[in-house]
Amino acid sequence: MFPERFSNLPAYAFPRLRALLDAHAPGGDVVHMTIGEPRHAFPSWLTDEITAHADGFGQYPVNEGSPALLEAAADWVQRRYGVSLDPATRLMALNGTREGLYNAMMALCPERKRGERPVVLVPNPFYQVYMVAALSVGAEPVFLDATEATGYLPDLSAVSGEMLDRVAVVYLCSPSNPQGAVASRAYWAELIALAEKHDFRIFADECYSEIYRDDPPPGVLEVAAEVGADPERIVAFHSLSKQSNVPGLRSGFVAAGPESIKALKQLRNYAGSPLPMPLQHAAARLWADEAHVEENRRLYAAKYACADEIMDGVPGYRAPEAGFFLWLPVADGEEAALRLWRETGVRVLPGAFLAQERGGVNPGAGFIRVAMVAPEEEMARGLTRLRDCLYG
Ligand SMILES: Cc1ncc(COP(=O)(O)O)c(C=O)c1O
Repeated sequence: MFPERFSNLPAYAFPRLRALLDAHAPGGDVVHMTIGEPRHAFPSWLTDEITAHADGFGQYPVNEGSPALLEAAADWVQRRYGVSLDPATRLMALNGTREGLYNAMMALCPERKRGERPVVLVPNPFYQVYMVAALSVGAEPVFLDATEATGYLPDLSAVSGEMLDRVAVVYLCSPSNPQGAVASRAYWAELIALAEKHDFRIFADECYSEIYRDDPPPGVLEVAAEVGADPERIVAFHSLSKQSNVPGLRSGFVAAGPESIKALKQLRNYAGSPLPMPLQHAAARLWADEAHVEENRRLYAAKYACADEIMDGVPGYRAPEAGFFLWLPVADGEEAALRLWRETGVRVLPGAFLAQERGGVNPGAGFIRVAMVAPEEEMARGLTRLRDCLYG
């Protein structure tokens, strides 16, 4: 007695990785470059903030986020994108964006779209929750390859009008995991225009928005405001996990139109698991402070430079525009990850584990994903071994 809708799900990327590598001994001291778990320090004052509000552990937390937290998030949106959102009606707190990306589908995807099973467009490769969210509501996930040929973002112009009419939701990740590609203003504007024309919502996963090289990536909220889009079409997700180095705090927010936020809050009232109050206080302080985010960006800038130097001359090396992953071309990602582990002890993720096969082709199969999260010296050591092993 198990549901059929999940019967074809592949094993999640990390158990698959363990199955691939763990039967073999590492060929050197282990360097982890698999998981996107930030390892720079979070601000030291964060612990004091949590302790100062520890009495809040004695209360049920505010489901949708305390007014102070929502105000801090709205102020951040204003500073970052120049867009003014009413914190009470346009924002809701999340326990990290993963649950938000999932639950938004539950709350907002209709059962039928123009009389048919709805379609959810998913970039390929992609953050895996998108697919499971679509399957959970009985929608059909349709995967759009995001490869070199398409500028590492899905090519929207390749989707037929007939298909777009069936679309209820498009997930778009920018800066993207794993490729580090950034959607331009023009790209967002085109997507928004399609959403208006074909009546669908955009779920914009922007949790890497603050990890970039030079220019801040444009956000869906600012482009939507510029083009005067219907706010109900745009559902934007932001997280503290990457920008503040607190993946364990589990804190983010969703910004959307008032009716969409109402629906999200309604579902959260029934089934949500809100962030404990002391953590909501801490999150509010993080959204209000740019200094630590700038310092974090400085550390990543040094890593981008380090990677560019080590990988200089490696055929097919592409410096990511943003985010903290390298998406490196290899002949076969699984074979490369296994060889690298056995010969050097460096652990990376085969790209195929982050993508779906379509027409017999997995667009991630010829790649490995390398997370640049370790301290710079450790990252440089891992990357040098990787270059010498796979491209030497
Ligand atoms: C593309 C993408 N979206 C969302 C998330 C979820 O982040 P969190 O739930 O920590 O906010 C991640 C985390 O790795 C991610 O890579």
